[in-house]
Amino acid sequence: MITNRTFTMIKPDAVANGHIGNILAMITNAGFRIVSLKLTQLTVTDAQAFYAVHAARPFYGELVEFMSCGPIVAAILEKENAVLDFRTLIGATNPADAAEGTIRKLYATSMGENAVHGSDSDENAAIESAFHFSGREQF
Ligand code: TYD
Repeated sequence: MITNRTFTMIKPDAVANGHIGNILAMITNAGFRIVSLKLTQLTVTDAQAFYAVHAARPFYGELVEFMSCGPIVAAILEKENAVLDFRTLIGATNPADAAEGTIRKLYATSMGENAVHGSDSDENAAIESAFHFSGREQF
């Protein structure tokens, strides 16, 4: 299923560091249309569920704690080839490996606190979008 949509979160580190405006500007300047947008906070249970695929990984506990520690911005974005183009825009998981000019290179502080999330497939984009937004909140 190709939807031309992806799901993103501006993570608690980037929100706390005042980067919401700059990151949203990078996203829209790269040609993404905002379908849905909100400031919210994940509970521990929400973060556990969102990252359930990583439950067996050694970093899972820290990831859940971090992702629920403060407000995030959740958004659905639309553009041709959205999932892959957005992964390119955000850069590698570890900011030390992220290309120049990517969101993570500019705003991430570490592998764990890496400023933004981007879905890794069309299928996960749809699941993650539905996790955060009802149909009425998608424009
Ligand atoms: P992952 O889905 O592999 O990366 P991405 O966000 O680039 O799709 O991992 C999810 C998050 O888990 C990642 O953004 C940061 C955290 N993480 C760690 O803290 N340590 C790690 O070794 C990995 C692989 C991820």
